[in-house]
Amino acid sequence: MPEHYFTEQPSSERERHPVDLRLRGHDVTVVTEGGVFSHQRVDLGTRVLLREAPELPARGDFLDLGCGWGAVALAMALDSPEATVWAVDVNERAIALTADNAAALGLDGVRVLRPEAVPEDVEFSVIWSNPPIRVGKPALHALLLAWLPRLAVGGAAYLVVQRNLGADSLHAWLVGALADVPDRHYGVSRLGSAKGYRVLEVERRS
Ligand SMILES: C[S@@+](CC[C@H](N)C(=O)[O-])C[C@H]1O[C@@H](n2cnc3c(N)ncnc32)[C@H](O)[C@@H]1O
Repeated sequence: MPEHYFTEQPSSERERHPVDLRLRGHDVTVVTEGGVFSHQRVDLGTRVLLREAPELPARGDFLDLGCGWGAVALAMALDSPEATVWAVDVNERAIALTADNAAALGLDGVRVLRPEAVPEDVEFSVIWSNPPIRVGKPALHALLLAWLPRLAVGGAAYLVVQRNLGADSLHAWLVGALADVPDRHYGVSRLGSAKGYRVLEVERRS
C-alpha cells in the first residue's frame, strides 16, 4: 500500500528531483520528492485552480491550505511578490520542499509552517487550496471550518475539488456550515468547472 500524501513523516525513499514547470505563466524549476502529493508534476486539479482563480491583490496575507511541495503558494508569491503567503501542511517533507523552493526562487514573502504555528490573529484576504479530500469527510470539514472563518471581510477562498470526489456535496455542506458561523456572512458559489473539477468560491461579505 502506498503511503497517504498527508502522512506527517513519510517513510518512502528520500530523493529530491528537479521539475521544470509553468505556474500561472511563470517558468520555474522546483524540487520535489516522493512522499508528497503529485510529486512528478502539477496536479490536474491544481492546474484548474491556478487557471480559474482570479487575479490576486498586490499585497496582503494569503493562505495556501495544504501546500504540498508548493505549487499554489509559489504561484501566489510569483504573481504577488509583495504579499505574505502563508503555506501550511502537516507533511514534514512538504514543508521542507515548499520552504526550499520559495528560497531558491527568491520569494521572501512565503512563510511555510505547520498549521498550528500560524499566529491566531492573522486574517487572510485570499485562500487558495486543493484540499486534502482523502483525509475523509469529518476531518475535511473540521479543516475547512478552522480556516475559512479566518477570511478577512471582503476576502475570498477558492477551493478545487474533483466532481467524483464530492465537489457538489461539499458545496452544499459549505453553504449550510458557513451560515451557522455567528456574526459573519458568506457567499458560496461555483466559480468554474473543468476537466472533472469544480472551483468553489467562498466570499466573506461581512
Ligand atoms: C491535495 S494535496 C495539495 C498539495 C498542493 N497544494 C498541490 O496543489 O500540489 C493536499 C495537501 O494537504 C495536506 N494536509 C493534509 N491534512 C492537512 C491539515 N490538517 N492541515 C494542512 N494541510 C493538510 C496534505 O499533506 C497535502 O499536502
